[in-house]
Amino acid sequence: STQTGEPLRRVLVTGGAGYIGSHVVFKLLETRRYKVISIDNHHNSYPTSLVRVSKLAKELLPENPTEQEKDSTVIDTFTCDLTKRDDVRKVFEHYGKGGIWGVIHIAAYKAVGESTQIPLTYYENNVSATVQLLQIMSEYDCTRIVYSSSATVYGTPPKVPIPETTRLQADSPYGKTKVMCETVIDDLCHAEPHRWRALSLRYFNPAGAHPSGLIGEEPRGRPGNLLPLLAHIACGRVKDQLQVFGNDYPTHDGTCVRDYLHVLDLAAGHLLALDALAPESKVFDNAPDDARYKAYNLGKGKGMSVLDMVEAMRKATGYDYKYDIIGRRRGDVPDLTADPALAEKELGFHAPHDLETMCRDLWNWQTKNPDGYGGQAE
Ligand code: WQD
Repeated sequence: STQTGEPLRRVLVTGGAGYIGSHVVFKLLETRRYKVISIDNHHNSYPTSLVRVSKLAKELLPENPTEQEKDSTVIDTFTCDLTKRDDVRKVFEHYGKGGIWGVIHIAAYKAVGESTQIPLTYYENNVSATVQLLQIMSEYDCTRIVYSSSATVYGTPPKVPIPETTRLQADSPYGKTKVMCETVIDDLCHAEPHRWRALSLRYFNPAGAHPSGLIGEEPRGRPGNLLPLLAHIACGRVKDQLQVFGNDYPTHDGTCVRDYLHVLDLAAGHLLALDALAPESKVFDNAPDDARYKAYNLGKGKGMSVLDMVEAMRKATGYDYKYDIIGRRRGDVPDLTADPALAEKELGFHAPHDLETMCRDLWNWQTKNPDGYGGQAE
């Protein structure tokens, strides 16, 4: 709830128009405690998503909203590429020194396979852009950041479920960019321990969509990820049959196991992380040294195989999927299942939405938006 008179905290979300970003922005607006700024280059997103998030937030306003409550539903959006230092600086200049309370940094390229083909693009867009962002944040006295990391930092983990203490050993350029950015932020927090506060959130596999069906996953081009692909196949946007990338893994049915969590639960985790960066937070109290940096897994702790997900989507869509088993995909690992205990204990994180809800919400988004965001002008 909003303490009356407390001014809204400005939070910049990079990649705010994307699948994860738009759900994170929705959760921020839902609290009415933040004024959200979004930077996005729309490389893999549509501006429409935030128009709809703002609409959803307005529908949640009380009868006679205060000016501040109304203002909290208005998102300041900037179409801007994070690699363009001057454009990013202009956004911070707009709000002045200390004008932005914190940053949730989600913008990145994230296709594991693609990263092995164009590594330089991934290092420039994911690593250089993050270093530049941190430099500009420092210039403008904005020293709180929630960083979107990934389970891919673990590579093939020595054991599952995976605790945060697992050594980081990514084996794709994409995963390495995530390890590098975590390291940069960690070192920055150690260099200026009384100035910076930062948390890295290691996402497992987000799925589903806001139950309104107004926002959802809409990758540009053919989906690389399993769930949106299954939705596109079921509604005919993708004509060819599912190809399962290998069934010779050491798992219960031979296909890869992943830890799927509802995108709204993942988004709620960002709110908990942001609040944990506030001065009154206790999350850094037992830190081994005075640096205020930690990393948390955001997952359910429940592994589901490719074939489990096909069956769950068959139930949700009524579509009778056929598939071919083909060779393994480069960069895939047998099992990425989180140990979510640390985030649950220290952030109060939990991911209650079940698999059936994830698939139902994904299918609801797909059927209500047969052309995704591309089809409709708002
Ligand atoms: C899931 C499983 C595939 C497509 C993704 C992102 C990565 C990271 C984590 C952000 C795998 C199999 C898939 C298909 C298949 N996100 N599959 N046929 O690989 O866990 O990684 O989430 O940090 O950037 O890519 O998710 O949905 O691509 O694959 O058999 O046509 O489905 O082999 O085992 P993944 P995914």
